[in-house]
Amino acid sequence: MNRISRAKPANIRSVDEITDSRRLRRMRKADWSRRLVQENRLTVDDLIWPIFLIDGENRREEVAAMPGVYRYSVDLAAKEAKRAAGLGIPAIATFPNIDMKLRDRTGSDILNPDNLINRATRAIKDAAPEIGIITDVALDPFTDHGHDGILINGIIVNDETVAQIAEAAVLQAAAGADIIAPSDMMDGRIGAIRDALDGSGFQDVAIMSYATKFASAFYGPYREAIGTGGLLKGDKKTYYIDPANCDEAVRETEQDLAEGADMIMVKPGLPYLDIVRVLKDEFRMPTFAYQVSGEYSMIRAAAANGWIDGERAMMESLLAFKRAGCDGILTYFAPEVAERLSAGA
Ligand code: PBG
Repeated sequence: MNRISRAKPANIRSVDEITDSRRLRRMRKADWSRRLVQENRLTVDDLIWPIFLIDGENRREEVAAMPGVYRYSVDLAAKEAKRAAGLGIPAIATFPNIDMKLRDRTGSDILNPDNLINRATRAIKDAAPEIGIITDVALDPFTDHGHDGILINGIIVNDETVAQIAEAAVLQAAAGADIIAPSDMMDGRIGAIRDALDGSGFQDVAIMSYATKFASAFYGPYREAIGTGGLLKGDKKTYYIDPANCDEAVRETEQDLAEGADMIMVKPGLPYLDIVRVLKDEFRMPTFAYQVSGEYSMIRAAAANGWIDGERAMMESLLAFKRAGCDGILTYFAPEVAERLSAGA
């Protein structure tokens, strides 16, 4: 008798029956098996810590809209950088709150080799040479109108802005910045910065492009932190990307990579994880996301009200970035997370 035509023994199930008997909870039943099948993990190596700077000495001010986040004078920023390095955090990103008297229409203080950001870079390099320094090269902390570009007759002028930030990038590199991170979204900025850096002997200074920066409501607390909140009139829609657009974000990134970006960043973070995944799949480049001020403050505020478990929400939100394809995350939680991770949490 032909084996194939023989009736199926009663104890062998059809494929459909086998499928029906799958139980996904089997692997979730114990801590050991959950650990064994865990797909993504957050480590201290994934963290970049953004910090705020102010003038003065031995000064530390809490940002009202960001409980637990401070503006540090240069001396204290250097100490914090050393602490971060000790925690194993690979890199720090600095954002200056410039004295109002130094802000003007064109943001000219960005071209001062001894401005707050450059002084902080030198002090951090000196105190903690093992930590990477990422400097934001954008005009908004330096202008009296809070925009990221030079404003002429109500228009943010592209090419004049690019020329100025390329010059500023060279000064930041000269002060010791390891990575230049332009956050202004002007066209052609990556190529101009690359040329300027190379032309000044800074071939090894990298560029992390804020490739896809969206015109978002989640930057609110940051604007208080650097003191632009009261200055900014209107919005940044003529240079940041519309939150509705994904294809445009891909085109922006393609352009920045063609111009020489070494790393790409998505900003804000959690509401834009779909963009992270698309960019990672499309370009396979070192991809980062910025968990911005509003995301941080929402978690803090809800936790302060007892509405969520803040620590768990912090860890879960950061793990979500990893799952989406991030190689690292800029987060104000960085030192707290590093401490938790080293405690084995
Ligand atoms: C602007 C800049 C912004 C942030 C960093 N650099 C946003 C803005 O004011 O438009 C936001 C960071 C945050 O919200 O944490 N160059």
